[in-house]
Amino acid sequence: MTAAHTLAAESVTLAYGDRTVIEGLDLSIAPGRITSIVGANGCGKSTLLRALARLLSPAGGQIVLDGASVHARPSKEVARVLGLLPQSPVAPEGIAVADLVGRGRHPHQRMLARWSAQDYAVVADALDATGISELADRSVDELSGGQRQRVWIAMALAQQTDILLLDEPTTFLDVAHQVEVLDLLTDLSGSRGTTIVMVLHDLNLAARYSDELVAMKDGRVHAVGAPEEIVTAELVQEVFGLANQITVDPVSGKPMVTPIGRHHVR
Ligand SMILES: Nc1ncnc2c1ncn2[C@@H]1O[C@H](COP(=O)(O)OP(=O)(O)O)[C@@H](O)[C@H]1O
Ligand SMILES: [Mg+2]
Repeated sequence: MTAAHTLAAESVTLAYGDRTVIEGLDLSIAPGRITSIVGANGCGKSTLLRALARLLSPAGGQIVLDGASVHARPSKEVARVLGLLPQSPVAPEGIAVADLVGRGRHPHQRMLARWSAQDYAVVADALDATGISELADRSVDELSGGQRQRVWIAMALAQQTDILLLDEPTTFLDVAHQVEVLDLLTDLSGSRGTTIVMVLHDLNLAARYSDELVAMKDGRVHAVGAPEEIVTAELVQEVFGLANQITVDPVSGKPMVTPIGRHHVR
């Protein structure tokens, strides 16, 4: 198991120019657990994740990693502890899959140092874990959306950070690959004690795979807790403005949300 790093937002205000998106937000991430952030489009999930990953400086408050502000620490040092898969990552044109995944090793390498046997092994493992070993030499440009998403996940894995932040890691993936990726992240959390924080749109998968859910609304934390504690029809109505019914997921025993549209009222 890895040493448990602590990550928290303390009274954080996040803004783009003079437009404040998040104000005075407090959140402690549970070390070694899986936390999913859910909420309607535009409520500030990606903004919060980018701040946690040190990519966005708070206009107020601070992001604290192991007791010190992340923005006061060198980026390479932070990158060895904390990795981010952004919502819409852009690959350099023409880059090969293995090379992009290999970039995940940068925080571990000294300048101009040669690749170590360990670097190669970690990249091979990441390609294998995400089922893309056979794509290693292909250009990222020519892959399908789902294949490309798995390349980014492999890159995040190759970084081998103790904290992994992922913004909608299951986008573009078919349902089988969604489950595969979430199983993989669960393995990581279980075997290495990796702290996972992700934004997920599928509430049912979020409830199934997360130890903690953070439900956001309009830039605030509306509710936080274990899925079985916080997922109720009222919460889903409040957070998404969606009529719904909650039952028990027959496979996981976790709460399961069935949306009620205008055409299927019984
Ligand atoms: N780079 C940006 N510049 C200005 N406004 C932004 C930027 N990124 C996001 N926003 C705004 O901040 C709000 C929250 O966005 P975001 O965090 O991406 O939401 P979510 O990930 O929950 O869909 C939205 O109103 C969005 O328009
Ligand atoms: Mg987003």
